[in-house]
Amino acid sequence: MISPDKIDAVKNANDIAEVIGGYMTLKRTGANFKAPCPFHQEKTPSFVVSPGKQIYRCFGCGEGGNVFTFVQRMENFSFVEAVKHLAKRAGIEIEESRPDPAFTEKESLLAANRETMNYFHEKFKASEKAIAYAKDRGIDEATIEDFKIGYSPTDVSISVYLKSKGISEETILKAGIVGQGSYDMFRGRFMFPILNLYNDVIGFGGRVFDDSLPKYINSKETPVYIKGRNLYNLNNARKNAQDGAIIIVEGYMDCVTVYAAGIKNTAATLGTALTPDQAKLLKRYAERVVLMYDMDEAGRAGAVRAGDNLFAEGIETAVVSFGDVKDPDDYIKKFGVAALREKIREAEPFMEYRIDRLAKQGDINNAYYKEKVIKEMAELIEKTDSPVVRDNAVKMISKKLFVGYDVVARYFKVKDGLAAQVGPGIDMDDNLALKNKGADAAEKMILSMALNALGTENEAVILKHIQERREMQGMKYEDFKNQVYAELMIKIKTYFKEGEREILKRIEMDYVDNEDINRIISELLVPKISEGTQKKKVHTEDMMQEITDYVTRIQKEKTALEIEDLKQKINAAEAEKNTELLKELLARKSKLQKVMQSIAD
Ligand code: CTP
Ligand code: MN
Repeated sequence: MISPDKIDAVKNANDIAEVIGGYMTLKRTGANFKAPCPFHQEKTPSFVVSPGKQIYRCFGCGEGGNVFTFVQRMENFSFVEAVKHLAKRAGIEIEESRPDPAFTEKESLLAANRETMNYFHEKFKASEKAIAYAKDRGIDEATIEDFKIGYSPTDVSISVYLKSKGISEETILKAGIVGQGSYDMFRGRFMFPILNLYNDVIGFGGRVFDDSLPKYINSKETPVYIKGRNLYNLNNARKNAQDGAIIIVEGYMDCVTVYAAGIKNTAATLGTALTPDQAKLLKRYAERVVLMYDMDEAGRAGAVRAGDNLFAEGIETAVVSFGDVKDPDDYIKKFGVAALREKIREAEPFMEYRIDRLAKQGDINNAYYKEKVIKEMAELIEKTDSPVVRDNAVKMISKKLFVGYDVVARYFKVKDGLAAQVGPGIDMDDNLALKNKGADAAEKMILSMALNALGTENEAVILKHIQERREMQGMKYEDFKNQVYAELMIKIKTYFKEGEREILKRIEMDYVDNEDINRIISELLVPKISEGTQKKKVHTEDMMQEITDYVTRIQKEKTALEIEDLKQKINAAEAEKNTELLKELLARKSKLQKVMQSIAD
């Protein structure tokens, strides 16, 4: 174990900007550095390094951390390896005191697995049977290497081999390579080693060569292998996710054959439904997930469960269907990879898939069933933080079930983003929905307009106009219903006053560790897709008018609430016959009513 003091010393001796600068060119921007992100594909740099805070963060993909995590990610190192590497870089001597028992257990399990993988891989190359099987399944040599495909021989030689490498009997048993009574777990099987994101070998899956059962044998869970927290081939898939999409298939064979056909951004769940932990993991590497499951009932149900978990993480998801073909592997065999790519392009948005499936499972013309479907969908949709996604989903349900928008909206506890009381709504325009809402939406729209103006030619005009309207109407950010919006508006105001040129970057750095606020900011910034429209000449006059309307709305609502409050107090004062107080309250009320009048004009 390396002592915390040592770790600290190593950290202090390795300036993050210097270390990262050794991997790529950093451009200085004020107090920070900037570069294109090494962890995802992008054209405009959103990877920021802060020497002041000794951290990095990508505002595109969300990767972030300190000098150790950076080296871990870049080199596929474990934490200890990263510390040792950086110690060497700085010329610091590391002597490991008291080995940590939990740590050494893990390390020895990983060592056993790695040796086993290498052994099986060598045996594969010497096995005509295994080579022929791979060829038959369309797995080429490069793919065999990338996946370190193996063959587990029937001669029960693995434990002898591992012992010759200094691995103890106990570790071999614990790793599940050999069962009780020296029974060779994977004997005679076609082997898929399972690697995690750091390229540690954490377990195995082995397939029979014929139709005998069980078709697959998988490693049991060990301290290094927790099934629901890993995805097969995610280590490669994330590097190949050029357009930000990762494809998820059901098993080893689909993953390997789809990869071999050239679709390399593919990962697999391992015989279980995609868990919330796996969804979180995907969130770090994928902007979008495409589910490509088997076409049987289990696959369809699995896609629903996976999609629900991905939805809860806020990941855009789509589902591929290929009719009566069993799985992606068979689809490539029958129709080729070009056709499969087409299927992937045509993948159905998850929300539609979800509701279509529910619609097929009952009598959709029956009002009671309709209600059941709406309730189930509402429960799911409420897991999103995005008002736009929520509004879209409600529109879709409304359309598909022939139920009015506002009727569907009634089943939602969270109303933000839902256009309450605005008619049937089926054809309603999104923008209108937001514009017709109360002060909450107005606060949000003001913040959104301010954020989107930052760094554009309109920045000064818009910010000054907001300021002016605010002063004129006596609006205080402190009175905002949403305190996060208030805090962000105050930041924008303050930085603008200070003459800060990169207000947005500065705010992003302020909240570098705050995921919630980062999410709010990125949600409000006009998404990249509409960059075209954004670049069109913006009508600043329209925007000014809009701002005026929002400020007015906020003040109106605030004043109305105050009047409401006063009315109650007046009633109470009357009941108590407190004439003194009553007089004062009535005077305040009439003053507020005048204010209300003036705002309304
Ligand atoms: N699986 C398992 N144990 C089994 C059967 C399946 O763990 N007895 C898991 C494996 O992870 C497998 C996945 O479920 O990869 C999908 O199984 P299946 O569709 O039956 O196999 P395929 O991947 O289609 O394999 P093949 O094409 O070789 O039949
Ligand atoms: Mn198959």
